[in-house]
Amino acid sequence: MAKPLFFLSVLALLFSFTHSSQNPNPNPSSAHTVLSNYGFPIGLLPTAITSYTVNHTSGDFFVKLGDECKVTLPPDNYLATYSKTITGKIVENRIADLDGIRVRAFFQWWSITGIRSSGDNLVFEVGMVSAKYPSKNFDESPPCEGRRAVS
Ligand SMILES: *[C@@H]1O[C@H](CO)[C@@H](O)[C@H](O)[C@H]1NC(C)=O
Repeated sequence: MAKPLFFLSVLALLFSFTHSSQNPNPNPSSAHTVLSNYGFPIGLLPTAITSYTVNHTSGDFFVKLGDECKVTLPPDNYLATYSKTITGKIVENRIADLDGIRVRAFFQWWSITGIRSSGDNLVFEVGMVSAKYPSKNFDESPPCEGRRAVS
């Protein structure tokens, strides 16, 4: 069990670094507002949203970005990517069936499959594994980086 725990603590570190040095987004889009209405911090989505849809009955949603969005995570240049289209199912404090958000660590891409919010904390699910982070790390929406070569 030591290995998954190590991975999770590194993942925690990654997420805590993700948004710490970004400029605040002064005009969160209505997609970000929807996110807050469901109990999530706006920093889960980057700033570059071009459109989104939420079915408030089923919770099914999609978010479209202009292009794939990358964020580099210091200190070791791990990457997080957002696909052009992010889909899932959102209800109060819970996102399930998430598709389109990945983190690269230990030479693999890890898909974030679900996110739960308990107010102070977010629990990220990577398949059967989950890891908890303070929600305040996600108070600001990160800008996408310019395109760059990815090894
Ligand atoms: C929203 O979801 C409900 C329940 O699954 C479904 O009946 C309805 O057709 C959906 N609405 C749209 C606009 O897709």
